[in-house]
Amino acid sequence: MTAISVADAKYALALCDRIAAHTDVPGTITRTFLSPATRDVHALLTAEMRALGMTVRTDSAGNLRGLYPADAPEAPVLLLGSHIDTVPNAGRYDGILGVAVPLALLRAINGKRLPFAIEIIAFSEEEGIRFKLPFIGSRALIGELGPDELARTDADGITLAQAIRNFGLDPANLADAAITPDTFTFLEVHIEQGPLLESLSLPLGIVEAIVAQSRFELTFSGQANHAGTTPMDLRRDALTAAAAFISSVEALACSTRGLVATVGVIHALPGAPNIIPGTVTCSLDIRHADDAIRDSNAGQLLAQVTADCLRRGIGVTIRETSTQRSMPMDVALAGALAEAVSRTGRQPHRMNSGAGHDAMMLAGKIPSAMLFLRTPGGLSHHPDESVALPDVQAALETCMRLLETLTH
Ligand code: GLV
Ligand code: MN
Ligand code: MN
Repeated sequence: MTAISVADAKYALALCDRIAAHTDVPGTITRTFLSPATRDVHALLTAEMRALGMTVRTDSAGNLRGLYPADAPEAPVLLLGSHIDTVPNAGRYDGILGVAVPLALLRAINGKRLPFAIEIIAFSEEEGIRFKLPFIGSRALIGELGPDELARTDADGITLAQAIRNFGLDPANLADAAITPDTFTFLEVHIEQGPLLESLSLPLGIVEAIVAQSRFELTFSGQANHAGTTPMDLRRDALTAAAAFISSVEALACSTRGLVATVGVIHALPGAPNIIPGTVTCSLDIRHADDAIRDSNAGQLLAQVTADCLRRGIGVTIRETSTQRSMPMDVALAGALAEAVSRTGRQPHRMNSGAGHDAMMLAGKIPSAMLFLRTPGGLSHHPDESVALPDVQAALETCMRLLETLTH
């Protein structure tokens, strides 16, 4: 049994700090798909992976992948990892900790070879910010990054295919990202990003299922006009229509058990205090553990906004930008992970994940599991996001126990 030291946990947290220093927007932590700062993070992680005895490559979807060899050739591969892109003005642990903890685990293993290889992957994209398409990195592993996705454009009109080329990679080679048949398990370590574990005074959670999520973009088209001369009853204000929609989103989510719905982006044009807004675009993110409930509530909201806009004389177009079905984690693996938590002397807590994760893409292809760490204050997608050193040590001890189980 290899022991985990507090130094291993400190190494993981220091790595998160070092990665946080690489940002596209100074003064914040912001890294989108294959952005300039991502190149620096790749250089940092490559050096770290090589120092730990791994061979390193970047696949054609921009995922950085380190391989730690097994004690014999042609052994199966255990895949560990998470994403290194961020939301705008992010914290330093969402995704990143799921790369840092596996590297700290290798540090603790200290050169010992196991009967399986360990691949650590830093997924290029999970948040869906740059191309309004989440899970770009993990989609490539399961063969779901095709021509439609590659043709998506970012705010500057750059296609996803071109962004890959601009990073020095070839989107025609995406097969090199596919999960290999010898990969037998995926484990993602992630902060919980919610308040549940903290409320139970427990450091670790085992994910049973990841909830469904859909995202839409709505465009409201009214008539921009003079704010002083246009009487209220003769206006076609796109922003007041959008405001009514946002209120309906909140009202429905508050009255539907388990439903969460968010309008997180809104742009009003032309954007001056003395002009009635003519065009408004906004997002809708809607989630529920049950696909059917999520779908029917999304349908209700979109039908309602269509009818309301008709009444107001406002045009509305709705584009579904992404949809993910809810995804159960592997039952046996979740059991092994819970057992590993128990063997460290801690109480495992089974829970669902309200956040989306790369594991929900991989779970359709290979047995996948997620280990959650308590998130102080339940605060995430925020610069004050944090995690406690003893909880990182608990996660490392659990991962080590799981490696022992997989070894026998
Ligand atoms: C990922 O962070 C998500 O939005 O679920
Ligand atoms: Mn996130
Ligand atoms: Mn994440």
